[in-house]
Amino acid sequence: MNRVLIAGAHGGVGKHVTDLLGDGEGTARSMVRDESQVDEMESLGGEPVVADLTEDVTHAVEGCDAVVFAAGSGGDDVYGVDRDGAIDLIDAAVEAGVDRFVMLSSMGADDPESGPEPLRDYLIAKAEADEYLRSSGLTETIVRPGELTNEPGTGEIRANDALESGDGDIPREDVARTLVAAIDFEPVYGETFEILSGEDAIEDALQSVGSR
Ligand SMILES: NC(=O)c1ccc[n+]([C@@H]2O[C@H](COP(=O)([O-])OP(=O)(O)OC[C@H]3O[C@@H](n4cnc5c(N)ncnc54)[C@H](OP(=O)(O)O)[C@@H]3O)[C@@H](O)[C@H]2O)c1
Repeated sequence: MNRVLIAGAHGGVGKHVTDLLGDGEGTARSMVRDESQVDEMESLGGEPVVADLTEDVTHAVEGCDAVVFAAGSGGDDVYGVDRDGAIDLIDAAVEAGVDRFVMLSSMGADDPESGPEPLRDYLIAKAEADEYLRSSGLTETIVRPGELTNEPGTGEIRANDALESGDGDIPREDVARTLVAAIDFEPVYGETFEILSGEDAIEDALQSVGSR
């Protein structure tokens, strides 16, 4: 992909995504919501664009070939950001003719009612955003990691429809690598899957998802 919009580019996962794409042949268009974050995006190799998911985002997607959604409310405004912010960005992508959309979702979003009570609204918001994406007509991939850590990435994960929740975690860096690897990897187009740290190279894990 030539130009990829990264929503949440200033976040823990999003900075890794910017770094990875910023080193590549295409352009990482790094969406931040504060002017003060622009310099850091440039230093990671990103082309910053200032936009807030609770406001108009049409200018952010224009001219892009793909979107990676790595933003999140952190629990402050789950319906405003995690659901409606994502939905508005999906709508903007459709409107702008950006066909490819990779969503960072969460383990547990397949069954929010069974999740821990403090996370229930968050998981409902993520589930509704994922469902909207699936029905949007975009070429989508939905990646659902377990608990995120700041450990260095290993490049090795496991991926499947449903992994045992509570059975491990995954470094943000490996989540970012998975999102980036998925962008152009046709076997995972239209797929939703969970990821945790594991023993498979990311491309192999994605291949197994695509051929299951
Ligand atoms: N934490 C976990 O264990 C876990 C597990 C599974 C899935 N996830 C999902 O993974 C996502 C990313 O994780 P992370 O650790 O990278 O999160 P993070 O560091 O909190 O990053 C989230 C990013 O979203 C941005 N953002 C928030 N509201 C926004 C808005 N209105 N408009 C534009 N951008 C906005 C934030 O901007 P600022 O930098 O300006 O604050 C931040 O850069 C989480 O949000 C969650 O949905 C998390």
